[in-house]
Amino acid sequence: MKRVFSGVQPSGDIHIGNYLGAMRQFVALQEDYECFFCVVDLHALTVPQDPIKLKENTIELAGLYLAIGLDPKKVNLFVQSHVSAHAELAWLLQCMTYFGELSRMTQFKEKSKGKETVSVGLFTYPDLMAADILLYNTHYVPVGEDQKQHLELTRDIAQRFNNRFGKTFVVPEPMILKFGARIMSLTDPTKKMSKSDSDPNNRINLLDEPSVIKKKIMRAVTDSETEIRLDWENKPGVSNLLTIYSLFTGMEIEEVVNKFKGQGYGTLKKELAEVVIDKLTVIQKNYKDLSRDYVLKVLKEGAERAQAVAEKTLKEVKEKMGL
Ligand code: ADP
Ligand code: NA
Repeated sequence: MKRVFSGVQPSGDIHIGNYLGAMRQFVALQEDYECFFCVVDLHALTVPQDPIKLKENTIELAGLYLAIGLDPKKVNLFVQSHVSAHAELAWLLQCMTYFGELSRMTQFKEKSKGKETVSVGLFTYPDLMAADILLYNTHYVPVGEDQKQHLELTRDIAQRFNNRFGKTFVVPEPMILKFGARIMSLTDPTKKMSKSDSDPNNRINLLDEPSVIKKKIMRAVTDSETEIRLDWENKPGVSNLLTIYSLFTGMEIEEVVNKFKGQGYGTLKKELAEVVIDKLTVIQKNYKDLSRDYVLKVLKEGAERAQAVAEKTLKEVKEKMGL
């Protein structure tokens, strides 16, 4: 069976961009692939985190993975820091990555822009991500558009290692949706929706209350025209709302555009809010039904299974490198 790996950072509230761009796909993939889904807490440490909150966010994200429909009998669900091979392989891969390559990463440039100090971890983050993926000899990596460049680097590193030390790693392929891989911010639709954005109104979180969801959507930035049409260049706000509507209802985007043609922005927003609230209420109910002990048990068992696979790869890598 081919393998799938993906991770989400427990660095804040999980939003509909994470869900529509990445996590939603995981549920379908669990049927046909051997899946490793991870709460990547070591990645979260690249920017300062409050320790108590980090731990809570980690358990919350694991609960959300279950609430959207991942079945722990079908997938390996675990926390990155519970499998020490991730950090260890990351170091080995750092020694095979060029400073120039990491300097070209747009996420680093964006996240470090204007900061007085940035951690070295933020710079070498792509090597930890490469380690996450390569440890499991992953074939496919379902991610949002923003991870494309990191995936390309992972492929380059895998090929470089294989050329130098002999075939070791599977060279992974990205699995990026053709539609919905980049959900935009509600307050600035020229930027992607992100949990690290300082404005909490930029995103709808999976655990937001219905009234909050409604308020955020009604206040979403659009434009000074009145016409509803899909036009990412001139109407990114409206295009984003239409896209979210399409993804949550399963309606084709053309169908959605036709449905709202000639209507006001207020109508689009009101109906979108209803659709989003409907979908998220189901996830929220599943989430509330989970006990903390159950989530911790799933994570413990997931880490044990992941560790067995990861240790085997790490051992082979170390031997090949002369360690
Ligand atoms: P964030 O950028 O919000 O901190 P992560 O880095 O934890 O999110 O990313 C988790 C997954 O969600 C990745 O596959 C990423 O590509 C995807 N993702 C993040 N933001 C978006 C977005 N706005 N639209 C689509 N996918 C996204
Ligand atoms: Na991201």
